[in-house]
Amino acid sequence: MRIEHFSADGFRNLENIDIDLHPELNVICGQNAQGKTNILEAIWLCTGERSFRGAKDRELIRLGGERFDIGLRFADKRRTQQIDYTLIRSEIRSKKIALNGVSVKNPSGLFGALECVVFTPEDLELSKGSPEVRRSFADLSVSQIKRSYRRVVDKYRRLLEQRNTQLKAAYQTADIGDMLDIWDIQLAQMGAYISMLRYNYCKKLEMAAQKLYSEISQGRERLEIEYHSTIYENLQGRTDYRNDLAAEYAEALKKSRAEDMRAGFTLKGVHRDDLHCKINGMYAKEYASQGQHRSIALIMKLAQAYILSEETGDAPCILLDDVMSELDAGRQEFVMSKIRDMQVIITCCGEEALRGRAAGGKVIKINSGRVI
Ligand SMILES: Nc1ncnc2c1ncn2[C@@H]1O[C@H](COP(=O)(O)OP(=O)(O)OP(=O)(O)O)[C@@H](O)[C@H]1O
Ligand SMILES: [Mg+2]
Repeated sequence: MRIEHFSADGFRNLENIDIDLHPELNVICGQNAQGKTNILEAIWLCTGERSFRGAKDRELIRLGGERFDIGLRFADKRRTQQIDYTLIRSEIRSKKIALNGVSVKNPSGLFGALECVVFTPEDLELSKGSPEVRRSFADLSVSQIKRSYRRVVDKYRRLLEQRNTQLKAAYQTADIGDMLDIWDIQLAQMGAYISMLRYNYCKKLEMAAQKLYSEISQGRERLEIEYHSTIYENLQGRTDYRNDLAAEYAEALKKSRAEDMRAGFTLKGVHRDDLHCKINGMYAKEYASQGQHRSIALIMKLAQAYILSEETGDAPCILLDDVMSELDAGRQEFVMSKIRDMQVIITCCGEEALRGRAAGGKVIKINSGRVI
């Protein structure tokens, strides 16, 4: 997959950006706070996902501005496609998005068109950080290959909030309420489905990541990635999420209800699950060195890109935000060698650092939201 052309205006500080991209390597450079990450964020929006910075829609429109317009032309193996994405401040709830000239209702209508993998310095916390970071990673990864998944996750989250509110109310009034029973059944159905898909993804991830990790550690270390469920002992070989898995999930919710009520929130479920990484049999979270954590994070992202390539039959575009400066020379080389066949768009402050590598690529200089 190659992005051929990108334009943006009014998106954060970007002004009249209009660039033809190189099919292999693009280096966006400039000083701090000039708009480099904003460009990657605007590109990322065209995948149909939300901002990777977790920004609200209105924050994306230039301060004092009325709208932003993004245009993006890209080609996959079969054809060239065009995405037009506009947001107007006075109509913040209705984005104007079109794929090949045909308007789509929601950003999710873009799912499956442009495929990107974004890598930011925060992603280096993937192995070291909180379980929440790894759950989000898993959810994004799954949703990239199973597009209906995102809806289920969103619905689960809403339902969970309602359940938690109800739990608190029930504890105060000592009235359990019928709603809880109804919600638990729905939660269990969605939770079972989410558990199964995340588990299956982790299996694939482990396979791809193990190979890469062995390479980066010169065969000295072995990486394992396991899905840790707070509901199920073992998910291996289990596929009946509609009946068997959902029933077990519901049972677990029922069992912990009294405790949930005391706590005021739901103690078990996919919102508490985690991905456990081990190196040579030891839990990375507790035992890994700083360097090992970085390697695991890098490799999980690379594996994500590889799996996406395999599942969609086309390599995603790789968006690297300021990551290179965080890595030592060996790891920089490793990353670049592993994404050689993919289109890469990379931001950095010092253009010198990448000049050698940009031979055969394109350098785009950004200053105050404009290309110079
Ligand atoms: N809605 C907005 N309206 C106007 N300007 C904005 C808006 N949102 C962000 N900015 C500005 O965009 C700039 C930051 O852009 P960006 O994050 O892309 O910087 P960067 O070039 O990646 O910098 P760094 O090298 O520090 O990562 C800041 O100057 C910020 O004030
Ligand atoms: Mg930046």
